[in-house]
Amino acid sequence: MFEHIQPLPEDPILSLMAACRADSRPDRIDLSVGVYRDARGQTPVLAAVRRAEQIHLQHQQTKAYQGMAGDPGFLAAIAGLWRDDASRGEGDRWGLMQTTGGTGALRQAAELIARCRRQARVWLGRPCWGNHPGVFQAAGLALAEYPHADPAGQRLDGDRLLATLAQVPAGDVVLLQVGCHNPTGIDLPLPIWDLIAEMALRRGFLVLLDLAYQGLADGLHADAEPVRRLAARLPELLLCVSFSKNFGLYRERTGALAWLAGTPAAVRAVQSQLFDAVRASVSMPPAHGAAVVAGILTDVGLRRLWQDELEAMRLRLRDVRAQLAGQLQAAGSPRDFSFLLSQRGMFCFLGIDAGQARYLRERHGVYVLDSGRANLAGLHAGNIERFAVALVDTLRR
Ligand code: LMR
Repeated sequence: MFEHIQPLPEDPILSLMAACRADSRPDRIDLSVGVYRDARGQTPVLAAVRRAEQIHLQHQQTKAYQGMAGDPGFLAAIAGLWRDDASRGEGDRWGLMQTTGGTGALRQAAELIARCRRQARVWLGRPCWGNHPGVFQAAGLALAEYPHADPAGQRLDGDRLLATLAQVPAGDVVLLQVGCHNPTGIDLPLPIWDLIAEMALRRGFLVLLDLAYQGLADGLHADAEPVRRLAARLPELLLCVSFSKNFGLYRERTGALAWLAGTPAAVRAVQSQLFDAVRASVSMPPAHGAAVVAGILTDVGLRRLWQDELEAMRLRLRDVRAQLAGQLQAAGSPRDFSFLLSQRGMFCFLGIDAGQARYLRERHGVYVLDSGRANLAGLHAGNIERFAVALVDTLRR
């Protein structure tokens, strides 16, 4: 069976994470995998999460199966994160299930699309998250591309984005990231979201939203505004949600898939297809992370604590961006990095190629993806100046 099987290239993000961990230089700088780090370079368990876990462990009565939709308390609690009173009219047109992380939500969405319309193409932004293509191809779907940013990945290419989406045929699917775009940090302004909603209506394509960083761009409520706007106008929508970043629950694999359909009967039909697909893959999602999220969102004090911690993360990311732009200038950067200030979240493109990324790694112990994507959350007062000097040295070579 295994005699002729060939090894595949490693995942570029996760293999770099492992390479950095294996690097024994004490001053190495890890800007590889997208996890938040605090001002001491740690990815701590949030205080709200720790308390919710203690309460959960004290009160947990059973570990019996929960069912394919996951934790009902979690599902009831999370919908309010992206819906509000104005969304009430959509109530029975929404369906919701828990998934194995945000990637699990994307993969379930891919399975659903393949079951509804095998010939549908999934349009991904260029550039997109490195794992997006593989998730949809694994479900047998073909891909297409729309431009998201300029070739350097540093500025929005709104005109070409809209011109391309205006050509997407009915029945195709357009994936759009909501907030803290990975890998560019370039988010779409609200007027562009409105134009996309109009186009989706006119052309008849399905929008799939990937909401992986809610609360880390402009705030918890503001970050979900595109979801509310599209849901108010479109007959159908898919929404993939991750709680890895905003609750710091990375390894607990906590996510959700929401779908908006034309009628309650269609909502139920979609659910039955999704349940069939999930039963044949993981059977049910894991429970722990969802119980923690539900515990936090349904307790006034824990919710306030979590929102404060989330806001602190958001403000630190903003601050790191401003500091880095200043440090690069002070280090005599031959390039303008003011674009960092208008971007959101953890990521940006440094504008370096794979050779320069290797030089940064080997000469300076700085780990960024070969594409030049850097997770700026890895920077803090203790390493930001050294990083700026290392990057300027790299850019000058
Ligand atoms: C990233 O982009 O680095 C994160 O979303 C982690 C991952 O799974 O790729």
